[in-house]
Amino acid sequence: MNKKIVVIGSSNVDLIMKMDRLPKVGETITDATFMQVYGGKGANQAVAAARAGGDVAFVNCVGNDAYTPQMLTNFETEGMHTQFVFQEDKLVSGHALVMIGSEGNNYLSVAPGANAALTPEKVKKATKIIKEAAIIVMQYEIPLETIEYVFDLAQDYKIPVLWNFAPAQKFNIDYLKKTEILVVNETEASFISKIEVTDRATAEKAVYKLLELGSKLIILTLGADGVIYGNKNEMSYVPAFKVKAEDTTAAGDTFCGSFAVSFVEGKPLNEVITFSSAAAALAVTRIGAQPSIPKRIDIDRFLIENK
Ligand code: RIB
Repeated sequence: MNKKIVVIGSSNVDLIMKMDRLPKVGETITDATFMQVYGGKGANQAVAAARAGGDVAFVNCVGNDAYTPQMLTNFETEGMHTQFVFQEDKLVSGHALVMIGSEGNNYLSVAPGANAALTPEKVKKATKIIKEAAIIVMQYEIPLETIEYVFDLAQDYKIPVLWNFAPAQKFNIDYLKKTEILVVNETEASFISKIEVTDRATAEKAVYKLLELGSKLIILTLGADGVIYGNKNEMSYVPAFKVKAEDTTAAGDTFCGSFAVSFVEGKPLNEVITFSSAAAALAVTRIGAQPSIPKRIDIDRFLIENK
């Protein structure tokens, strides 16, 4: 059975400041610790899927700056298919400034750089590999016209799309009908459904609303409060694993990447979500985006230890 996962999305160089508490506007914190790691929602999800054991192809666009060669080497080292990672010599790669405070909370600011140049024309060149996908995984750090193009292409080839609607931005609501699996957090679910998600009750209401809008399966991640999911047959809840959070960056990405792997392995939905929640729980115990993403062996061990 074909199990190829094609991730279409962004990559960033993450510049991290870790501090005891986040600064107020106008305040300077003087004892932060600096780290430079690789991130970007697309790359994080591709790496998460690869480390969870998936056969992953990554479709992406990088720029040309001091960090890019190492970023490209990393993609290779993760064992992903990278022939459709495009490079724009006149642009810089995407960059993110990440401030991490106590309990893993963060502020994030992204400069898209070459991610904005992942055009439909570039994605079209990757049709050969996209056609082979068992699932396409996409986020929202690439141009909207590219996202719409991917949805249409996926529909033509009858490939399910997991859309992680992150970060929340304006879009054409009709595309929800082309989304097999919509993964959202509280903010993103509130943005689309117009229902303010503050607890499990409001989360369920938002899931019903999102189902009405046309996505077939809604996964609403509530961080430490677990995951609510719903489709036409069921509305259910999976509690979160209890861990000490160091940094929540890329927890959602780890969830999506590992979800894709378990999904193409044909596991029952509840098991897929438990597996993805375990991977995300491990990610929040470590600092940084890609350095925090667990390998399959760690996820399997964590699941056994936390049965
Ligand atoms: O989801 C986390 C990611 O968001 C970070 O790695 C950062 O690069 C931004 O894209």
